Amino acid sequence: MGKPKCIGILGGGQLARMSLFAGKRMGFDIAVLEKEPGSPAGQLTHLEFTGTPANKTILNKFAASTDVITLENEFIDYRILEYLEALGKKVFPSSGTISLIQDKLIQKETLKKNNIAVPAFTAVDHKTDYEKTAALLKLPFVLKSRKMGYDGYGNALVKNKKDFEKAFDKLTHRHSKLMAEEFVKFTKELAVMIARTRKETVIYPVVETIQKDHICHTVIAPAEIKKNLYDNSRKAALSSVKAVKGYGLFGIELFLTAEGKILVNEMAPRPHNSGHYTIEGCITSQFENHIRSVLGLPLGSADMVKPAAVMINLLGKTNQTGEVKNYNKALEEKNLHLHIYGKKSSRKGRKMGHITIIGNNHSKIFKAALNTEKKIII
Ligand SMILES: Nc1ncnc2c1ncn2[C@@H]1O[C@H](COP(=O)(O)OP(=O)(O)O)[C@@H](O)[C@H]1O
Ligand SMILES: [Mg+2]
Repeated sequence: MGKPKCIGILGGGQLARMSLFAGKRMGFDIAVLEKEPGSPAGQLTHLEFTGTPANKTILNKFAASTDVITLENEFIDYRILEYLEALGKKVFPSSGTISLIQDKLIQKETLKKNNIAVPAFTAVDHKTDYEKTAALLKLPFVLKSRKMGYDGYGNALVKNKKDFEKAFDKLTHRHSKLMAEEFVKFTKELAVMIARTRKETVIYPVVETIQKDHICHTVIAPAEIKKNLYDNSRKAALSSVKAVKGYGLFGIELFLTAEGKILVNEMAPRPHNSGHYTIEGCITSQFENHIRSVLGLPLGSADMVKPAAVMINLLGKTNQTGEVKNYNKALEEKNLHLHIYGKKSSRKGRKMGHITIIGNNHSKIFKAALNTEKKIII
């Protein structure tokens, strides 16, 4: 037998871990490159590379062991992907696609240019830009780091000049460049996953996402919204992927406004928290279609296997080790699917795992999931 195809993942967190499970199950090898050894994905493969992508010696070794390279976050500089492509490696999503996504300002400009509805936005280059930004976007507005933001860490709500100056200093600490957006009074936040190869496109159900403190907390699939809004969400998501010439797997976050408008908030070129429910909720999980899409293989169906699914993130409740402290209580619910990411340490608010329940009735499984989430100590 020949060697199995090897997919290299830049990053070793929970998204890489779940892609790894899907890839291994189908008979592929997975290589992981992550800063520290023993990462959630790195601990599961003999092809674990430790270092940063900026370290060319490690990057070359990692690349040499792979047939195709993908990623689990958009923070990797697109020029590193260009370097890998110049080595003759296939990278999905490509450096070109990532260059249009990883800077939130360039991403929004790209979407707008392609006639996709987005919140009003503007670049913020100087600490003296408050008046002009407030005049354009009205108050309050949202100041965002153009790069390296996640789980709301790169965002700040601005209600006055003092907020602005404080947030400017805090956010430029994260990354030097900022942008601002109108504050959208959304009635719901929605998300759509899309897997795309040169030959086909698979669009997952539209889901509702509920964030707490800017972090995704609950995902309800499918979203309970009117059919025309459902269809418009899928259309906006597909147009967004086409706008960045995206091939691979994408998560598109949307706002539904009180007037029934669908606005694209942002897109992620990778598996997404809003798609974790697909592991048990859909015929083919986002992670399996991630692997299939980067290999250019036929994609699997995104149809749900039951009418409803609810996913709740397990955020750290302690500042201790990363295991569940009370498995007996945690597993009392008979329909529960428990996912723990294998992180070495827990921290209050850190994503440590998630739970999913699928069933016939949204409110019943939502209650059961909330009840279980309360019990689990991690
Ligand atoms: N323009 C906006 N108006 C209102 N709420 C927003 C806006 N932008 C972001 N948010 C809120 O903050 C959350 C995180 O912001 P997002 O831009 O998606 O950054 P991240 O990269 O951290 O996910 C969103 O899911 C939403 O709840
Ligand atoms: Mg987001």
